[in-house]
Amino acid sequence: MSELTNSAVWHELVGHAERLCATNLNELFQQQPERAEELSVEALDLFLDFSKQRVDSPVLASLHRLARQCGFEQWRERLFAGEAVNHTEGRAAYHMALRCLDDTPMRVDGDNVVPLVAAVRDRFCAFAEAVRGGQWTGASGDVIRDVVNIGIGGSDLGPRMVCQALAPYCDGPRSHFVANVDGAELSDTLVGLDPAQTLFIITSKTFTTQETMANAHAARRWLVGRLGEAAVARHFVAVSTNADAVQSFGIAADNMFEFWDWVGGRYSLWSAVGVSIAVAMGAERFVELLSGAQAMDRHFATTEGADNLPLTLGLLAVWNTNFLNCPTQVLAPYSQRLQRFPAWAQQLEMESNGKSVDRDGVALDYRTTPVLWGDVGTNAQHAYFQMLHQGTDVNPVDFVLPLAADHELHEQQKLLIANCLAQGAALMRGKDADTVRAELSAQGLRGTELDAAVPHRVFSGNRPSNTLLMPRVDPFHLGALLALYEHRTFVQSVIWNINAFDQWGVELGKQLAKSVVSALDGEVAELDPSTRALVARVSEGVGF
Ligand code: F6P
Repeated sequence: MSELTNSAVWHELVGHAERLCATNLNELFQQQPERAEELSVEALDLFLDFSKQRVDSPVLASLHRLARQCGFEQWRERLFAGEAVNHTEGRAAYHMALRCLDDTPMRVDGDNVVPLVAAVRDRFCAFAEAVRGGQWTGASGDVIRDVVNIGIGGSDLGPRMVCQALAPYCDGPRSHFVANVDGAELSDTLVGLDPAQTLFIITSKTFTTQETMANAHAARRWLVGRLGEAAVARHFVAVSTNADAVQSFGIAADNMFEFWDWVGGRYSLWSAVGVSIAVAMGAERFVELLSGAQAMDRHFATTEGADNLPLTLGLLAVWNTNFLNCPTQVLAPYSQRLQRFPAWAQQLEMESNGKSVDRDGVALDYRTTPVLWGDVGTNAQHAYFQMLHQGTDVNPVDFVLPLAADHELHEQQKLLIANCLAQGAALMRGKDADTVRAELSAQGLRGTELDAAVPHRVFSGNRPSNTLLMPRVDPFHLGALLALYEHRTFVQSVIWNINAFDQWGVELGKQLAKSVVSALDGEVAELDPSTRALVARVSEGVGF
């Protein structure tokens, strides 16, 4: 048994979960009439209502004790001090330094990195403005109209999501994102693009990622085939930590924006990885995004206990995962602008906390990250919400609801908001058999027909959710929202005693992909019998 699951506070929480089994959320509201006001926390105009979570005051007190026992305050201090919290790679996880917009020193290995960060930011923001203003032209002197970011994982999901979320602020060249090694994505993107007016940003921390390199070389061939080799210098820039590989690709040092090994890929949109954001909406808005995140950093670093928004969100997630045994966690942004927020959060959470050994490498006897999934409301209501309401598993939902619309269809915004609030209410309240029976009787159903109909229409209710209100999707509040979820992920990792900042689990697949490529090329490769048979079958059908 681990120290964690053996601890008194863990047992206390197990006891609370058993106790609350017999009580449903409707009763909790009767017992605590001020629950809606009391179970809420607000920071930077982000208002979290967690009154629909299956918690009460003793549960919350125990969760905060758990955080203290797990050294939350010490770990937070170490994180913000730039210590090597990513110990398996010997690195800090210092994405907060990327959004430090003042002169507060932030040190890695004793060196204040803030001036370095600011210098690179100034450089890529100036570049972004030059592209936007037409001073940076293509090789033939044309203004850049289309910008294609080629990257995958953290080098794609963040900027892609932000550009979509802040579309009304995008007044620069059109942004495109290509991630998949499936050539269909690049081919489709290039259709209709004029090479003379197209800029490629090759974004890769390592500059070795197979998918990104394959797409980058294909894009290079496309451009060189049309404009000649000399054009590469005006049509390709890179964002990376690997200057040598960037140069070998043929991109000069002047056209590379660097970042550092203490920035994890999934935490990197705040670095030069965000240059596509700056090109799309301008440096000023990019800085507003950073300032929202910085404000959330300050809140997280300095606010204690129950008033700390990321801490509260993280502890609720731990409660649902480890004590209520919920297998997944649903993200439901009620905002078309936030359509890609769940995809971004999936990498953030599952690549960070999808671990099964603790910091010392010891196998865990408790669950770590649940599956995180979701899509925008109201679409999701007509797809999988049936399962959320009546399925056998309980899957807690985070409803994220920006209030103000950036369009004129106000009546539809009201419908959107109403649907969001109604879903949380329905999940919580449910509908019992007596109510269903009364409703069906009123419609004229009788006897066996009535008896047969009732169970299908019963909702058990008592299904937990958070409702997170934000004023609107603007750069500042989006920055704050994203940093909130980053810190929530960290909080969970502290409770679970795992390293949230490495991702060794993605390596094996990468290695084996190389072996399979060799096998597809007819070379000898070490493969298991099943994969070898598949390679043989695939090779018969496709000519490479
Ligand atoms: O999938 C693993 C991973 O290393 C992610 O952590 C990262 O965001 C992605 O690949 C892309 O890596 P890079 O930016 O080095 O191309």
